[in-house]
Amino acid sequence: MATLSIRDEDRTLTDPKEIGDFLAPFGIWYRRFEGDELPSTATNEEILAAYKAPIDELMAEGGYVTADVINITPEIPGLDAMLAKFDKEHWHDEDEVRFIVKGSGLFHINPGDAGPVFSVEVVAGDMIKVPQGTHHWFHMCQSKTIQAIRLFQSKAGWTPHYTQSKVDARYIPMCFGPEFVPAAN
Ligand SMILES: [Fe+2]
Repeated sequence: MATLSIRDEDRTLTDPKEIGDFLAPFGIWYRRFEGDELPSTATNEEILAAYKAPIDELMAEGGYVTADVINITPEIPGLDAMLAKFDKEHWHDEDEVRFIVKGSGLFHINPGDAGPVFSVEVVAGDMIKVPQGTHHWFHMCQSKTIQAIRLFQSKAGWTPHYTQSKVDARYIPMCFGPEFVPAAN
């Protein structure tokens, strides 16, 4: 279940309906899919087949034409350099749609004049759409593991455009899910 945090207001939301309602004015979709957990050995093709119904629904709704599966684990060579591309504030020419199959990750969204920066920690079963043009950045959680289905209108729109605002540096990434370990005093 996702966790939404508005650090500047010291507010945290964990109810999926409340999270969806909070995100809607920003054009961000948030949904939960409850289903049987897939075996950890499931191939990308098996994952896409298992989630065909919700994927087809999202594709029709958002005009997406392709789907793939991304697998990030701590063993990937050059992982830190790869992640460093996404942990600075940026935006894309197309929607960023992620359906989390395994692991977790942390999106920060900066709505600018429309409200304070907030973060959404997504875990297995969460689907989020960050609309094109939305200023955001992304961190992995502690396990550095995430498996997610991605939907695209066109992969060409996926290049990040950096804002260079450095606003990302003001928010320490914190995941609150099952992996969360409070700092020792
Ligand atoms: Fe992004």
